[in-house]
Amino acid sequence: MLDITTMRQELSGLYDLAPNPELAEEMSETYARMDRVVNPVDWATFAPYVAAINKLKAEKNAVILAHNYMTPEIYHGVADFVGDSLQLAIKATEVEADVIIQCGVHFMAETSKILNPSKTVIIPDMEAGCSLADSVKPEGIAEMRAKYPGAPVVTYVNTTAEEKAASDICCTSSNAAAIVRAMESDTVIMTPDQYLAQNVAQQVPEKNIVYWEGACIVHEQYTAKDINDFREWNPGTKIIAHPECPPEVVEASDFSGSTSGIIKYVTDTKPEKAMLVTECSMASNIADELPEVDFVGPCNMCPFMKKITLEKILWSLHTMGEEVHVDPELGEKAKVAVERMIDLSRELGL
Ligand code: 13P
Ligand code: SF4
Repeated sequence: MLDITTMRQELSGLYDLAPNPELAEEMSETYARMDRVVNPVDWATFAPYVAAINKLKAEKNAVILAHNYMTPEIYHGVADFVGDSLQLAIKATEVEADVIIQCGVHFMAETSKILNPSKTVIIPDMEAGCSLADSVKPEGIAEMRAKYPGAPVVTYVNTTAEEKAASDICCTSSNAAAIVRAMESDTVIMTPDQYLAQNVAQQVPEKNIVYWEGACIVHEQYTAKDINDFREWNPGTKIIAHPECPPEVVEASDFSGSTSGIIKYVTDTKPEKAMLVTECSMASNIADELPEVDFVGPCNMCPFMKKITLEKILWSLHTMGEEVHVDPELGEKAKVAVERMIDLSRELGL
C-alpha cells in the first residue's frame, strides 16, 4: 500500500516539483495537445512532473503503455504508446525496453507480464483493480464448463491470470464478436461481462451464448432512458457507447465499439456533437485533435483507472515499484489463451 505522505516528502526532496510557469511555457508543444481541456494553471503544476518522468524513463530504459482512459496529462504528456486493451496487449509483446510502466489497471499490467515475462512490469498503484476482474474466479469458470460440457470458454481480458489460464481463448471489446463467431461450437461460454456477452449475442445470433453475470461498475450505470432523454434534450448528438454498457443502451446509441473503436469513429465521422457513453477521459483525450467536435453529455469516471496519477508514475520510476509478478507456470497457461486471441485477431484481419 502506498504511503502518499512519505512519497510526497521524498519526491519533493529529490525533484523540483513546484508549479513552474516558465517550464510550462517551454513545454508548450506538449501542452498544445491538451490545451482545450487542461487549464494553464494546472499545466504549470503538471509540467515539472511530466519533465521529471520523461527524464527518468530514458535513464531507466522504461516505456509507458497507457490505456485510453488515462487523464490527458498522462495520455499526452508521458505515454509512449496509448491504446485499447487489445492494442496494449499487442504492444506489450513488442517492447524491447527493460521496463514497462503500465498506466491502466492491474489486469492490463498482468497481461503485459504474461506476454513478455522477461520484462520488469510496474503498475503505479497496485490497487488499480477492475470490477469485472473481481467478478469471477476459476471455480466459476469450472461451474460453467460443467453446465455446458464441450462449450469453449471465451474470457474477456478484464480478468486475472487465473481466469485466463482456465479459459480456451481471451477476447477484448474490439474482437469479441469475431472471436465468438470463429468458435466451432454452437454454444459459447463468455465470462465475466454479462453485457458484453449480450451485445455479442446480438451480433452473432447463430451462436447460443451463455455468460457469467459480472459487470463493469462504470458502464452498467447507463440506462436507455439516459440516452433517449439526452437525445431529446440535445437533438443531433451522435451517441457512442462502449459494449460493456447494457444492450438496451447500445441499441439506443448510434455506434458501439472498443475505446479505440470509439476514437476512430469520432475521428472519421467528425460529428458536430458527440456523447461518449464511457469513461470521462476518453472525450478529454481527443478534444484537441478534434476541435470541430463538441463533446457533450455525461460520462462516468472509473475509480480504478483514476488511481494512476503523474505523482505515482514518478514514484514508480524512482523506486522501480510496484512490480507485477505472475507465477511462471500460471503465466504460461494464461499466455496460451491471450496469444490465441492475438493470433486469431491477426488471422481475421482485425
Ligand atoms: P477497451 O478494450 O475497449 O479499451 O476496454 C477496456 C476497459 O476496461 C473498458 O472499460
Ligand atoms: Fe474495469 Fe470498468 Fe474500470 Fe474498465 S472501466 S477498468 S471494465 S471497472
